Amino acid sequence: MTLRPTRRTVALGGLAGVTATVLGWRSTRAAAPAPLARVGALPVGREVPLSLVAAERTVALPAFGGRSMRLMTFLGGDRFPHVVRIRRGDTLVTTLDNRLPAWAEEMSVHWHGLRIPNAEDGVPYLTQKPVPPGERYGYRFTPPDTGTFWFHTHCNTAETLGRGLLGVLIVEGDETVPYDADVLVCLKDWRIGEDGAFLPFLTDEGAARAGSFGTVRSANGAAALRIDLPAHGDCRLRLINVDPTRIPEIGVEGAGAAIVAIDGVAVPPFPLKSWRLGPAMRLDLVVRAPADGGEARLVDYHAPQPVTLATLSGTGEARRTGAFDPAPLLMADLAEPDLLNALPLGFTFGATATGASVAEIADDTETPPLGPLCVTDRSFWAINREPWPDGGHARLPPPLAVLERGRTYRLTLHNVTPHPHPIHIHGHFFRVLSSSRREIVPHWADTVLLTPKERLEVALVADNPGDWMLHCHIIEHQETGMMGYVRVT
Ligand code: C2O
Ligand code: CU
Repeated sequence: MTLRPTRRTVALGGLAGVTATVLGWRSTRAAAPAPLARVGALPVGREVPLSLVAAERTVALPAFGGRSMRLMTFLGGDRFPHVVRIRRGDTLVTTLDNRLPAWAEEMSVHWHGLRIPNAEDGVPYLTQKPVPPGERYGYRFTPPDTGTFWFHTHCNTAETLGRGLLGVLIVEGDETVPYDADVLVCLKDWRIGEDGAFLPFLTDEGAARAGSFGTVRSANGAAALRIDLPAHGDCRLRLINVDPTRIPEIGVEGAGAAIVAIDGVAVPPFPLKSWRLGPAMRLDLVVRAPADGGEARLVDYHAPQPVTLATLSGTGEARRTGAFDPAPLLMADLAEPDLLNALPLGFTFGATATGASVAEIADDTETPPLGPLCVTDRSFWAINREPWPDGGHARLPPPLAVLERGRTYRLTLHNVTPHPHPIHIHGHFFRVLSSSRREIVPHWADTVLLTPKERLEVALVADNPGDWMLHCHIIEHQETGMMGYVRVT
């Protein structure tokens, strides 16, 4: 049975038209999802030490086809990505040792999606002094939420992320009943030229448009990932897109698949038709694995032909016989927005005059070939018409907005550009409410995909004091101006 849905109707990851029939879904569930059970109070866990030694290392990933590349990694070995697993309630005690080459300069570690104290958030100048090469720094926090998160630098991110400097952090403790497998699928492209060397990670042509795409695609470091799953098991796939640019449209062919969490936060399970997974976004799927010897495919539909990201093969005795009706996850302990008393805030994501003119030049893709553009001002993008000042994080602008602690804000995120922008907020989750262009089933997210010309309504409870970045997670957009912060006092 092929389960490729009529995807174009939901091409933007909208949750409209969740049809019970596609997967033989119990229609009662799709119609009225039962409220999710909550995770409960934060348990007292262990102290988990984590030693990160950021350095250049020569790594041979399967996706490199026998070659070795000079990557930047936090830990040694030929693995990608490095995964840290803890339980909810555990305290992660990290030492960062910056042994990057001097040209890479200073760094910090940002813990993407974690609602931790502002001082641990890892944004240079805003929340900490950057860590120069040869120095160390410590982070200590207890993540309040379960889910799939990740960590990366917040300095020179196009280059460091492009070279692989990141890790995945999984916080366990959200399953109501154990699934039959729990597998990570980490998506990342690599910008490798014909000569086998890395291509530039930030180009004016890319930065002013949709970004500079990778040339080699990979899942868990492999171009043709194969995952063995227990036959007919209900298997959890944790998808994470750590690419700085690409926005795949995720689908599963040949198996029933349901979305059970978005950015680590549980949703009542609903059938996956397709879902656009922008940079930094995560998606937890439960897939009913094929029979022994059978295969299903995880695909990206956002291409002329669907691209296979991973092949899922069933092996062994059949685990389950009943209809596919995956167990839900536990709901995070997030404050419900008080929409009746919400204060409005508007954020417009647009291009600067420089950005618009570079985009125009670059759009003329005939001859002459694009050389380096003589752009002195690399502010291509802006939030509320204010581009982040040139030169990394060192020159801090004033906050985009000052939020009163404990209050609910209703944010209108307005994209006035022809490009999608995955908009990320630190230290909080947005409740995604509605869109001017597509159906939205309400869910929580720390990174929301703002499609071209779209207006998204989201709400948040400003319950974490401090200065929190708000930026596009297409890193070239972030680093050329589409970045700001809000202050919660
Ligand atoms: Cu993935 Cu400012 O973060
Ligand atoms: Cu963007």
